[in-house]
Amino acid sequence: MGQLEGKVVLITGGGNGIGRAAVELFASEGAKVVVGEVQEEAGAAAAKAVVDAGGKAIFVRTDVTVPENAEAAVAAAISNFGKLDVLYNNAGRSFENDATVDGDIDVFWKTIQLNLFGTWLMSRFAIPRLIENGGGAIVNTASIAGLVGLRKIDAYSASKGGIIALTRSLALQYAEHRIRVNAVAPTKTLTPRAAKLDDERPTGGGDRNHLGHAMPIDIARGALFLASENASRITGHTLPVDSGFTST
Ligand SMILES: NC(=O)c1ccc[n+]([C@@H]2O[C@H](COP(=O)([O-])OP(=O)(O)OC[C@H]3O[C@@H](n4cnc5c(N)ncnc54)[C@H](O)[C@@H]3O)[C@@H](O)[C@H]2O)c1
Repeated sequence: MGQLEGKVVLITGGGNGIGRAAVELFASEGAKVVVGEVQEEAGAAAAKAVVDAGGKAIFVRTDVTVPENAEAAVAAAISNFGKLDVLYNNAGRSFENDATVDGDIDVFWKTIQLNLFGTWLMSRFAIPRLIENGGGAIVNTASIAGLVGLRKIDAYSASKGGIIALTRSLALQYAEHRIRVNAVAPTKTLTPRAAKLDDERPTGGGDRNHLGHAMPIDIARGALFLASENASRITGHTLPVDSGFTST
């Protein structure tokens, strides 16, 4: 029996990178997956890959920063699969020119809006449905940048630190409803986009990834653990999947 047999999971940013790996991994563990993704082609392809493999998935075009979209993605889980068990807040990214003095003011706001507000907004609509369900799990996406200081990636680090704090706060608030709230904190992960960016503006730090750069499936496996009953007494925590980076 799969680790998510019979569970209904909503994964944001499920069209590419870590989210795409999670869509396929969670489905292979028995989950029915709602792919909430802003890029239509990528989101539809992720859902199709699951269906082609014999699983159940739907794509709902979702911009996690738009309240109506966030609400509709949660509603699609209920209307298509009857309930919601797990929200995996994966959508997020860093932007160029993200430094306090030399960077762009717009970059600060769009980073906070996507990473922190998007996570908060999806949770706002998912939590009432998880309560109706008698419990469930939220897995948020932090970063090593929320756990240690990195240079010239200030708004991103602040957004991910905020997600870690939000994770703890929601965990305490909703434990009585049997909702667990945790986060994964990936190190540099070789998604196609991250690999390209690394070529264009190397961030260094490779020597702190003692087990090497992570691959999307490594982060998805950490998220699967937190989403599953294997983590039934774990809440409020941030799990670094970091090749030893934050232990350096
Ligand atoms: N790749 C890394 O090195 C790394 C390291 C630490 C943390 N993370 C975090 O992991 C998560 C996934 O990153 P990734 O590297 O797989 O990124 P990615 O860019 O490969 O995939 C992110 C997906 O999110 C989608 N997305 C972007 N904005 C969205 C929005 N407003 N609404 C819905 N979907 C949206 C994109 O279309 C894309 O499909 C992010 O939260 C990121 O901050 C990544």
